[in-house]
Amino acid sequence: MSKEAFGEDFIWGVSTAAYQIEGAHEEDFKGHSIWDTFVRKKNKIFANHHGDVACDFYHRFADDLELMASMNIRHYRFSISWSRIFPQGGGQVNEKGIDFYNKIIDLSLKLGITPWITLYHWDLPQVLELRGGWTNRDVVEWFTYFVQTCAERFGDRVKNWMILNEPVVFTGAGYFFGVHAPGRKGLENFLAATHHAALAQTTGARVLKEILPDSCVGTTFSCSHVEPYRPLLRDIKAAKRADTLLNRLFIEPLLGMGYPVEDLPILKRIERYIKADDEKNLHFKMDFIGLQNYTREIIRYRLLVPYLQAKIVSASKRKVETTAMNWEVYPASMYHVLKKYSAYKNIPPLIITESGAAYEDSVVNGKVDDPQRQVFLEKTIAEVLRAKNEGVNVKGYFVWTFLDNFEWAEGYRPRFGLVHVDFENQRRIVKSSGDWYANFLKKKT
Ligand code: GAL
Repeated sequence: MSKEAFGEDFIWGVSTAAYQIEGAHEEDFKGHSIWDTFVRKKNKIFANHHGDVACDFYHRFADDLELMASMNIRHYRFSISWSRIFPQGGGQVNEKGIDFYNKIIDLSLKLGITPWITLYHWDLPQVLELRGGWTNRDVVEWFTYFVQTCAERFGDRVKNWMILNEPVVFTGAGYFFGVHAPGRKGLENFLAATHHAALAQTTGARVLKEILPDSCVGTTFSCSHVEPYRPLLRDIKAAKRADTLLNRLFIEPLLGMGYPVEDLPILKRIERYIKADDEKNLHFKMDFIGLQNYTREIIRYRLLVPYLQAKIVSASKRKVETTAMNWEVYPASMYHVLKKYSAYKNIPPLIITESGAAYEDSVVNGKVDDPQRQVFLEKTIAEVLRAKNEGVNVKGYFVWTFLDNFEWAEGYRPRFGLVHVDFENQRRIVKSSGDWYANFLKKKT
């Protein structure tokens, strides 16, 4: 398979996120985010790891961007740390924060790399969490001010924007299960956070488009192909509820269809957070939708699971091949989610904004050989092509991720990078999968 099969204009890149790579968590007046706070709670994160230093990208970005360019990577998706720009959540801009992202943008452009900015990749300023965070409706206004500032300060050079990263993950893991920052639990927190995130998604996009009418604005969703465990009606129905939650909760209101209440009745309770005009405001015509897919989920009926009566059957129980995240290796999931989302009426073009796999890589004689990751990427990219050849309007593919980094609650254990990072001395080694990607991206002459 060659990249030529995708056509000249297909976008190939890599993705990262601020908290996972930057470090410098208190440098140059940066304020704490909910992740800076959450990692300090005992036993929330694997081995109590934290992102204080991470990949030290804050100091090493120039070398890292040069390495990226040397690997023929021409599109870079990264996120802006809100609390670096606004240590107090809003109010006075921290010029040092602006400078840092200006340097990244300028050097990227100089190296021939197009920047793609994610405005929210899970790191809410802690001061705003103290005021209720995503459960407080005011968050829509706080976020919009941040978006406006980024558009004004970076928009002269940045064309491509994503409003949110995977809203169902940060509301679900952060406000329902409490396993991600800010560690809050319960249905009410989840539903309030969900509605406010859905509103922030479109309010942010509208403001961005007003300031930068020529920009290309999207948002990103986590998605997984969902299948019932057994061909029993109760498993089939459970799978439908899980699919509604995992794949449909945010895209449907965005497309003007409202929340998918019919297939997940517990969502009715979100009504108490909905005000006049919200329904209309949840709808916005994005320029693209970012899809992020890693695996598929197998679902069975389970009465005791509150609200959902459905449970994921873990990959280890199914005895299938897995990655270091214990996620099933199932590249065809990519094809299915592309087909699923492209079936919506009026769906904007799709871009795969994250795709990748974690393995327990090790350095042997100064080299990291990771054939499994290469195979995973090759097979997954082939699934993108299969969907594209069947008419799906998919325009790009970004590998998650460039550097091994802080994998949220899993700490530094799972390594997702094309580039290995030794967290003792910050040494970078391009893995064999990184060499493969570089070669794949090489312009054929
Ligand atoms: C996504 C997330 C990334 C990364 C990846 C691998 O959900 O956006 O930040 O952690 O998963 O788990």
